Amino acid sequence: MSTLITNIGELTTNEPGEGRRAGAALVLDGDRVVWTGPAASAPAADERFDAGGRAVLPGWVDSHTHLVFAGDRTAEFEARMAGRAYTAGGIATTVDATRAATDDELAATVRRHVAEAVAQGTTHVETKTGYGLTTADELRSARIAARYADETTFLGAHLVPPGSAADDYVALVCGEMLDAVAPHVRWADVFCERGAFDADQSRAVLEAAAARGLGLRVHGNQLGEGPGVRLAVELGAASVDHCTYLSAADVEALAGSNTVATLLPACDLSTRQSLAPARALLDAGATVALASNCNPGSSYTTSMAYCVTTAVLQMRMTVEEAVYAATRAGGIALDRDDIGHLAVGARADVHVLDAPSTTHLAYRPGVPLTHAVWRKGERVR
Ligand code: NIG
Repeated sequence: MSTLITNIGELTTNEPGEGRRAGAALVLDGDRVVWTGPAASAPAADERFDAGGRAVLPGWVDSHTHLVFAGDRTAEFEARMAGRAYTAGGIATTVDATRAATDDELAATVRRHVAEAVAQGTTHVETKTGYGLTTADELRSARIAARYADETTFLGAHLVPPGSAADDYVALVCGEMLDAVAPHVRWADVFCERGAFDADQSRAVLEAAAARGLGLRVHGNQLGEGPGVRLAVELGAASVDHCTYLSAADVEALAGSNTVATLLPACDLSTRQSLAPARALLDAGATVALASNCNPGSSYTTSMAYCVTTAVLQMRMTVEEAVYAATRAGGIALDRDDIGHLAVGARADVHVLDAPSTTHLAYRPGVPLTHAVWRKGERVR
């Protein structure tokens, strides 16, 4: 079944040099984009969708979420808004609730948040384990994540569980836990931060994961400068996420590498940190992605539009840079060529905004602008 999307006000394909195009049309067939070009020469298709002069862009790629969780941390959020600092320790609250939840409860939570994201134009979702922290709980988290998300990441090294010795826990993660979970995930991640895992422990986890064929991701430089970015670049991680506190050397290292700097502005705001230095990274030539970091502790939102709005209004990214960061660069952070752009052959992940241009994402902050969504060629909204 093919669909011609026509009467597009402004088309963003993310193809090099194309910019935002007027007068363009798009044809989807099955789960692929099969044609783009001037509306006047569009081929016939089984169905026709009149975009009514609206903006059309690739679906959001949310390359960083933590959706396998149970419980609620509203009280912690309220305390933070009253002045208490965010620390890694809050993760333990969610670990207790997650361990106590049934598989069905966890699955329902992942499904509900993925559906919430898709309704807002997200067409590809990565999600992580990391609230189980025993072999059995990480394994079931990975299985549930793999069932409902598009990409799954093992984050057994999220926190040393209270009561465990750090070295013993790192040995468990690097051995039994990775052996059990690796067949169910594509990626491994580590929270390299004060209060979580230091540089040596993080390196041990990442090397053990790489030895089992997993791609690498790092949580780094979230709460202060530290070794996360350096380690991610040295080990060739696909992405280092947060990047809120960067030295000049970190910016330079990222700019000279293939490691994507994934910024999480909703998290920076919800934890009352500074906003990540997007401008310095972009000006130096680094690849910058934006993601929601949806989780119950530090960033409880699935809204990629909110991240784009914040990036433009508060982080000095242009609309084009922010939209690219939330689509194509998210795909690069996940080492995927087929998502986050609308070239012929790309996955048919399409977002139609109820606005004539993507500028309205920042010009009309907070207004829900998703009009229609195709995910893998299927109209889902
Ligand atoms: O990316 N930083 C580590 N992990 C999550 C927070 C998890 C939590 O507080 O529950 C994050 O912000």
